Amino acid sequence: MAACSGDGAGGGGGNDSDKPGDLTIGVSMPTQTSERWIADGTSVKEKLEAKGYKVDLQYAGDDIPTQSQQIDQMITRGADVLIIAAIDGTALSGQLQAAADAKIPVIAYDRLIRDSPNVDFYVSFDNYKVGVAQATALLVGLGLKNKDGSDGDAKGPFNIELFAGSLDDNNAHFFFNGAMDTLKPFLDAGTLKVKSGQTKIDQVAILRWQQEGAQKRMEDLLTSSYNDGSKVHGVLSPYDGLSRGIITALQNAGYRDDMSVVTGQDAEIASVKLINDGVQSSTIFKDTRLLAEQAVVAGESFLQDKTPQANDTETYNNGVKVVPSYLLPVQTVFKDDIKSVLIDSGYFTAEEVAAGQAKG
Ligand code: BGC
Repeated sequence: MAACSGDGAGGGGGNDSDKPGDLTIGVSMPTQTSERWIADGTSVKEKLEAKGYKVDLQYAGDDIPTQSQQIDQMITRGADVLIIAAIDGTALSGQLQAAADAKIPVIAYDRLIRDSPNVDFYVSFDNYKVGVAQATALLVGLGLKNKDGSDGDAKGPFNIELFAGSLDDNNAHFFFNGAMDTLKPFLDAGTLKVKSGQTKIDQVAILRWQQEGAQKRMEDLLTSSYNDGSKVHGVLSPYDGLSRGIITALQNAGYRDDMSVVTGQDAEIASVKLINDGVQSSTIFKDTRLLAEQAVVAGESFLQDKTPQANDTETYNNGVKVVPSYLLPVQTVFKDDIKSVLIDSGYFTAEEVAAGQAKG
């Protein structure tokens, strides 16, 4: 176990005599181009500072060497705990070894860090269930299923296309597997057809989860597989940023009232507006406030020489060991759910949804 009694500056893990004000938590986040990571970073920082801890929060601009360097610096500056949302889940073994050598506990935040024994805890959502929820939302959007799980009235067959996230993000595989397990019976029965034939994760993945990458791939798909006048009825998209790129490509090709059923994830404000306007079909809401809270609880446990409480000790094998995890549930949001799930919980105001912009 990496948790230990502190042994001075850079000793990590805190010490019985340390006051919160003497302890620093390094928080490494991947990028500020996606709203969710800004919300995550801000929430973790505010919650830790409210408890009196010092916080060293860094964003890496989706650049792997930058993230490695930032973590190196956090270790040198004497961080007592590290909370890391990795860009490339396999690229941080060296940093994690340095953290272990300095007895600094490491919490993987939302994205599992792979191929290292030095990951002490993992806080995330149930990522397989995110994929199930995305595929289910696609089926509901197409009318093949009802929200209550019963069969819908639609018969199909429907043309769909599939997208996945960045292959170096462990979550991308969980999302895709959950989705494909859910879609398989419909694909086998011919109710759903992937007209491009691209059904393998490495054919449909978008590097770094980039919106432009998704737009480009959707444009290519429209040109290569839908130039015979056929329609794309649905698109499995694992993240709102990708969904916006996909929607742009479809709009540029003339889709309007006949817009495809496009799924998403993260309830980013621009996409929530698109859902409210009837353009995007759904998103998956992951309450980053709750995730930040769990990261803080886990971080504090390590600082107090305790073991954080896990609710899953089986699912997340990082290639070296099963990392004890705390997983949170997720919620699907269609237009009808915006008020009850996102506005009533205080995540967004009605004005923000109407404007498609968060006040921050
Ligand atoms: C997160 C998703 C997010 C994606 C792109 C994943 O690791 O779990 O919530 O949409 O990264 O940022």
